[in-house]
Order: sequence, then C-alpha cells, then structure tokens
Amino acid sequence: MPAPSTAPNLMATIVSLCKRRGFIFQASEIYGGMGNTYDYGPLGVELKRRVKEAWWRANVTTRADVVGLDSAILQHPKTWETSGHVAGFTDPLVDCKTCKARFRADKLGEAQCPQKPSRTPLENKCELTAPRAFNLMFKTHVGASEDSASVAYLRPETAQGIFLNFKNVLEASRLKPPFGIAQIGKSFRNEITPGNFVFRMREFEQAEMEFFVPPAQNDEWYAYWRARRLQWYLDLGIRRDKLRVREHEKDELAHYSTATCDVEYEYPFGWGELEGIACRTDFDLKRHSEASGVRLEFFDPDTKEHYTPFVIEPAGGIDRMALTFLIDAYAEEMVENEPRVVLRLHPKIAPITVAVFPLVKKDGMPEKAHELEQELREAGFSTFYDEKAAIGRRYRRQDEVGTPWCVTIDGDTLKDGTVTVRARDSMKQDKVAARDLVAYVTQALRSWKQG
Ligand code: GAP
Repeated sequence: MPAPSTAPNLMATIVSLCKRRGFIFQASEIYGGMGNTYDYGPLGVELKRRVKEAWWRANVTTRADVVGLDSAILQHPKTWETSGHVAGFTDPLVDCKTCKARFRADKLGEAQCPQKPSRTPLENKCELTAPRAFNLMFKTHVGASEDSASVAYLRPETAQGIFLNFKNVLEASRLKPPFGIAQIGKSFRNEITPGNFVFRMREFEQAEMEFFVPPAQNDEWYAYWRARRLQWYLDLGIRRDKLRVREHEKDELAHYSTATCDVEYEYPFGWGELEGIACRTDFDLKRHSEASGVRLEFFDPDTKEHYTPFVIEPAGGIDRMALTFLIDAYAEEMVENEPRVVLRLHPKIAPITVAVFPLVKKDGMPEKAHELEQELREAGFSTFYDEKAAIGRRYRRQDEVGTPWCVTIDGDTLKDGTVTVRARDSMKQDKVAARDLVAYVTQALRSWKQG
C-alpha cells in the first residue's frame, strides 16, 4: 500500500470535499449562510447515522446494564435553574468599541479582527470593553404570550433529560446501580467563537450517558468508562497517535464535577476535545430532588437504605465524531503516477458499503448489476450504482467517499457467474461468484482491520 500523505491545508480540503461530495453543506447557503450551522447531505446523513448506530450498539444494545431514553428538547425552565445553567452556563465576552465586533475574552488569541482579518484583536490592539458573562442558552417562549412567565430554553445538553427521568426509568426498568441511561439527541448553544466547521456548532447532536453507581464504586467506574470510550474510537479505526486522554486540572472542572477527562484528537487546528468523561457525583439528582420535592434516590433492598447514586458521564458530540472520522480517514496518495484521494473509513461507518458497476452499458451488464445491487440492498448494505465513465475513474470517485468495496459486472459474469470485487484499501481485486457476493461482503466487513 502506498504511503499516505495528508493535504497541506487539511481542514479546507475536508470542508471542500464535504460540500462537493454531499457530506456537509453550509446551512442557509443561498441566503449567504448562517454562522456555525450546517446541513448534512446524502452521504453525511449516512455517515452520521452509522456513527450513532455504532455508539448505540456499543453502549446500549450490547449491554444489559444500560437502557435508552429520548427526552424532550424543551423541559420545564426550572430544570435549567436547578442544574446551574441559567446562572452559570456563560462565556466571557468583550466588545470592540471601534469595529463593534464581539469576541470571547478567553479566545482572543484565536479570533480575527473584522477590520484586519490577518490579525487577532490583541495584535490589532483593538479597544475592548471589560468582559461580561453571556449565557449560551437559546431562549424561546412557550404558548401564546411572550412574557417572562413563558420563557423556555432549548436544551444545551441532553443530560438533564436523563436526570429528570431517573425515577421513571428506575421504576419502569427495575435496574439497580450500577446502571446507565443513554440518549442521543440535539442540543443547542449560542456559540460566539468561529467553529472550525462542525467542530463547534450552534445546533449539534450529543451522545450522552449517565451511569449511576453506588458512591463507593465511583473511581472504578470512572476508570472503566475512560478506557472504554477511548477504545471505541480505536475500534472504529482512529489512529492511536492522534488520540490522547487529558485529565482536567482542578480549576478547569465544571461546578458539578470532582474529576473529568477529555478524549482529545489532534485536529489540523490543534488538540481538541472529542468527548468528555465526568464524575458528576450526586450533584444533579440531589439538586433536582430538592427543587422538585421528588426523591431521586435508590432504595437498596439488601441494606434497606435509600441513597443517591453517583454519576459517571461519558458525553460526546456526534458531529465532532463524524468530523474526526473524516479527518482521520483522509489520505492523498500516488498510485501508478496518478494522485488518489481515499477516505479509509471503517466499513461500519462508511456511507456506502458497496458500489456496483457494469463494465459497459450493454450486453445485459446493467441489468445484472441492478439485480445484484438490489440483492445487496435487501441484505442491509447501502449501495451505489454507477455506469458512467471509465472503470478507474469510478473507483476513484468511490475511494474519495470511503466506499470499501466496488463490484464490477463484466463479460465473465455473463459467462461463468463471477464478479470482480475491488477493495478500497489494498486496491486488490478478487473474483467472487455472484451468488456468494452477500456472504463475501458480510465476511469482509466483519474481518476488516485498519492497514
Ligand atoms: N453533559 C455534559 C456536556 O454537555 P460538554 O463537554 O459541554 O459536556 C459534550 O459537551 C460533548 O458535546 C463535547 O465533548 C463535544 O463533543 C460536543 N459539543 C459540545 N459543544 C459543541 C458544539 N458547540 N458543537 C459541536 N459539538 C459540541
């Protein structure tokens, strides 16, 4: 396999590939776009769906001790007062008195002055106001009136919906600690800093789990989830040397946390948080118990005592995961003196699993190709049919979007019933009986390993 290299400006290359091939588009583009908001196109939606499926499978479906939840985006406003978000979910902002731009006081070194975009506000010696706290929650109104009594918030994290349903789930599922409640869903934050594409958005999807444990087991479960979540990224093909786990310093900890670490990835713009794993103690359950008057506790039938479980929370962003998989998979290579761009995505998350090509548009090959494509679809694989351009060009187009296998129907197919399966990574070709194609792809998917 040729040695891969990455593009000099990898971030811009990924953004351009995403738009050109239908992964991710700027939201409201025809109206000039909207800051930090993006739409997922046909391939992006498949990538994201598979990332969510892989997360759900690893954290819910394959475990007896975790159940799922899908809570509402709009919760009672008291939720966010009690959780501390109304008072404390803020960024420090400063205004420039000259150009009227607004910056995050703690990110001035990364910001651009609109009057001189090559400089940061610090380099440009902008005249900045003193920092003031800016709440990141989006406010809206529920019902017909728009007064202070009708204020509601779009959730800034999915976690609170889990705490609010602790008692419901406990009673309905009859689980006992240690157990987890997981959910994937949209969250909203009025982010002010430029976002590095989908790394920081105003509307994004989170995959979070609150894992409730007896307090004495806090440390062992924290260590367990740290290791487990790092391994998930490795199992899905992320390079080990691009990942690290960073323990938070005491002064970085959120108000509810006694220990937190981040799984970080080395992005083209530097190391950044991909996922956080936090010890939230009994903070949230106790606060919501006090504020609602409903006891959010577990009654241990063995000791005959009530106690409030401690919480370990692995919390990741689906959009950040998708971006990370794209960046990590991207490679440019020279193959027989021709450049090739390839996304070495794990086949479990590749948007298209198998592309099907008739070698030529005649002699019954398109009909046979459609027939095989349908068989693959019915077996649950996502497929793509292409009969345009030379076969080499069709391979390259699929390499660029990460399709692990391309199947060509040629003269042999009509004679002896074999097709050619070409692998994205090795570019090797195998002759396979058409009737064994589904079994072949199933096996190849199961045994795939990062080269
Ligand atoms: N319940 C804990 C919580 O929300 P967080 O670190 O604020 O913790 C968890 O968010 C994850 O959600 C982050 O690690 C990141 O992957 C993702 N995330 C947070 N803000 C985001 C944003 N503005 N855009 C995209 N993803 C974001």
